[in-house]
Amino acid sequence: MVEVKGSVLPTRQRRSPASRPPLHARGMTGTTSTQQFWEDFYRERPVWSGRPNVLLVREVEALPPGTALDLGCAEGADAVWLAGRGWRVTGVDASAIALHRAAAHAAEAGVEVDWQCHDLSRTFPDGTFDLVCAQYLHTPVEAPGERAAILRRAAAAVAAGGLLLVVGHAGWPSSVNEPPFDYRFPTTGDVLAALELDPAEWRVELEDLVEREFVDRDGRPDTRPDNVLRVRRAAATS
Ligand SMILES: C[S@@+](CC[C@H](N)C(=O)[O-])C[C@H]1O[C@@H](n2cnc3c(N)ncnc32)[C@H](O)[C@@H]1O
Repeated sequence: MVEVKGSVLPTRQRRSPASRPPLHARGMTGTTSTQQFWEDFYRERPVWSGRPNVLLVREVEALPPGTALDLGCAEGADAVWLAGRGWRVTGVDASAIALHRAAAHAAEAGVEVDWQCHDLSRTFPDGTFDLVCAQYLHTPVEAPGERAAILRRAAAAVAAGGLLLVVGHAGWPSSVNEPPFDYRFPTTGDVLAALELDPAEWRVELEDLVEREFVDRDGRPDTRPDNVLRVRRAAATS
């Protein structure tokens, strides 16, 4: 599910590395199957494109910087991009290998990010954030209900007046005739149902389905359906 980053085609709506900085592994009691899967994945190959996800850029570039939590940050392209725009970023992933690479990329870019290693189904970063985002936080090894529980924790970590942004795949790339494994891609409706948001406290700002262009590992152009959900927590009343 990791691929070369691309651009977005409108559909429904338009509108230094060698050193290893310390990573925090708060509260982890051992390697989980999710961590093992993603460690093996990143050990086999780096996936760094150096470019942030186009849908994150589309949704965030006009926002004033604040604090941000990037869930499933992988090798850090989104977190580094946010930090470069003045956000104070915490980047979280289950893979320590990916996070070590992310820390090196941040050092190269001259930005600071708080990298934290968590299996988010077990432990979660402390604090609240103006932006909590998850770009393609999919995993083939999750237990039933695990993603929903992580997304509810994500919503709980949004500060008053802040945003939760969930960008996900809505299907396989158009070039894929036989899916490599069974996976039911969640719709924005599925994500909203999982979040169980209190309508008195949350406003749905955007539900979008886009056909995103990208270039595969062999340099071939392709497209893939993605969905975007943006919800805002009400500002605090004094
Ligand atoms: C499909 S990749 C997407 C990476 C990145 N956000 C991007 O857009 O390129 C999913 C990432 O989420 C991480 N991940 C999946 N499940 C996780 C979990 N339970 N806790 C922490 N990280 C997780 C994986 O390690 C992987 O880096």
